[in-house]
Amino acid sequence: MTQTYKEKYRPQFHFSPQEKWMNDPNGMVFFNDEYHLFYQYHPFSTTWGPMHWGHAVSKDMIHWEQLPIALYPDEHGAVFSGSAVVDWKNTTGFFEENQPGLVAIYTSAGTYPDSDRTCQRQSLAYSKDSGRTWVKYEGNPVLSDIAITDFRDPKVFWHEETRKWVMVLATGQTITIYTSSNLKEWEFASEFGHKSGSHDGVWECPDLFKLPVDGEQGNEKWVMIVSIGDNGETKEGSRTQYFIGEFDGITFVNDNDEATTLWLDYGRDNYAGVSWSDIQDGRRIYIGWMSNWRYANQVPTKEWRSAMTLPRELTLATIRDGIRVIQKPVKEVNSIKLENFVLQEMTIESGKALSFPVNKQLIEINIELEKESSNQFGLVIRHSETENTKVSIDVLNDLLLVDRTQSGEYNFSSSFPSVQEAPIVLKNNRVKLQLFMDTSSIEVFANDGEIAVTSLIFPSELSKELVLFSNDGITNVVDLKITELDTIWK
Ligand code: FRU
Repeated sequence: MTQTYKEKYRPQFHFSPQEKWMNDPNGMVFFNDEYHLFYQYHPFSTTWGPMHWGHAVSKDMIHWEQLPIALYPDEHGAVFSGSAVVDWKNTTGFFEENQPGLVAIYTSAGTYPDSDRTCQRQSLAYSKDSGRTWVKYEGNPVLSDIAITDFRDPKVFWHEETRKWVMVLATGQTITIYTSSNLKEWEFASEFGHKSGSHDGVWECPDLFKLPVDGEQGNEKWVMIVSIGDNGETKEGSRTQYFIGEFDGITFVNDNDEATTLWLDYGRDNYAGVSWSDIQDGRRIYIGWMSNWRYANQVPTKEWRSAMTLPRELTLATIRDGIRVIQKPVKEVNSIKLENFVLQEMTIESGKALSFPVNKQLIEINIELEKESSNQFGLVIRHSETENTKVSIDVLNDLLLVDRTQSGEYNFSSSFPSVQEAPIVLKNNRVKLQLFMDTSSIEVFANDGEIAVTSLIFPSELSKELVLFSNDGITNVVDLKITELDTIWK
């Protein structure tokens, strides 16, 4: 790559658009050996505006090729979030026999023809050439409801048992489920969520899929992901919750009680994420928008705004409190691993931090720490003269903390400097952390993916060292592996 992709704060191994504004990932689908990533895109500004679908493709979800804009606003409005599927059986009639193609199902966000009242309706576009060009369906919109203002972000999948397409749609603060046999005519099936989970803000960008529990085929549960918009009052801004339950093609039944809220990520910067459709090897892979509506329009990048998280494989495991989503970066991330060095069995004395000259900016850290007598221990990363980001375990409060209050530039928003908190339980006094550090983000996966904390940071200085510390007692380093990572933009 030329000068672009070398700018200040430019992510080096996360997807970001070459220029201008991006938000939600959209229409992710695997087809003809390519992973497609579409995204909410405003080509005329680095702030949000009339939405288009930007487009990129990849062979491995790590290295991306940017393609021209896929969908433009039209007479029905801007092109808001949605999904894409392969219409294998030509249920729409858009394709030729034995030549399946892609159908995008998205929200047309416009105004009613006879008033200036906003409306959100669902529309279709299809592509016969692997997503390179798109035709909008002449029967658009295919689904509307004049009674609801927030009526958007359709995620569609094929439900084999009932032989129907299923759509989950964000409707105010619930998810409404519709079914269809041809993607064009939709029938109401059920509504979920009046009382369940968090209602801190408007519900957006749902997803619904089935996964085996603890890897056992035949023992499956359904996962419903729901993003919750920023309402200006919560500490966290916009964030993402999920539900575990049963789905019979019509109704989703939550396994947990109404008061239980499960968070997909405890960091501030993972929003509006959904999963890929039509991946053939059985994996469920998710990607999120690595920002927060609280300050997304203000983050200090110039040429472009926003990046995606690393793609993550989602699985279900039974842990202490029940069945939970486990997330790990996809194995394809191995393709950017360079040199590594391994250190073993060290002791961090109380108050005597160990420091290592780590001056690489793109690294993965895998560390297992064991509490001997300390109450707080952890790592200081992106450590330079005046800046640092601290990832620590607060043993007394069972918390994993990611402190970005001194991580670099932060005064673009009073909500940005923060200590992000995730619940953590030590196992035999030990904790395992996997960290991915890019130019302007860190992703922390704790205890083999039980907990994720995704956080933007904007260090203005280069990292000089890695520091390990232990307070009020001793901590043992069981294992430490630092791996240099490669840029994907070459
Ligand atoms: C989520 C969201 C969606 C909407 C899109 C508009 O971040 O608000 O609900 O479709 O962004 O860009």
